Amino acid sequence: MPHEETITRERLVTLLNEDLAREYQAIISYVIYSQVLKGAPYMSIAAELEKHAGQELQHALLIAKQIDYFGGDPTSTPKPVRTSDKAEAMLRFDLENENETVRNYRERIRQAEALGEFALAEDLRQILQQEQEHQIDLATALGIDVPKEGLGRERGAAQPVEPVAAVAAKRPPASAGRPPARKPGRPK
Ligand SMILES: [Fe+2]
Ligand SMILES: [Fe+2]
Repeated sequence: MPHEETITRERLVTLLNEDLAREYQAIISYVIYSQVLKGAPYMSIAAELEKHAGQELQHALLIAKQIDYFGGDPTSTPKPVRTSDKAEAMLRFDLENENETVRNYRERIRQAEALGEFALAEDLRQILQQEQEHQIDLATALGIDVPKEGLGRERGAAQPVEPVAAVAAKRPPASAGRPPARKPGRPK
């Protein structure tokens, strides 16, 4: 999936339209789920999902604006929405969709930067940050760990820090490889 092609502006617009279709899917899912989730254990997550719905709408507007800027036509078709009678299944569908969304936006940021489209990359970073929060909300409601693909190197994401000892152990000894660099300022 990643880096399989040299990105062009035309291809980027196609991919942004897929992102937009996913945003529509998210809006519809969250509108429905936030209202039909019933029962005491789900009251706080239902309120959270209602907030997600509003954020997904903002994402859709940002992506549509970028598609228009690049000369494309924003799609009118959402990705299919899955529904269920079971609260847990609904939350799992949402989490799976968010995982897919996060994977895609991470790739889109790289592609935008490869094209020198830094304003788009900036918008995408801000969206990605909220999508990762959605993942955390859903995983928490399901009582599971946040999927690994959610914790990237993008700004705002949790940054796994390698212990100093582990880093030092990986470093080759000074004698290995190339000869040591000449000290600056010393005439030879
Ligand atoms: Fe979104
Ligand atoms: Fe989201």
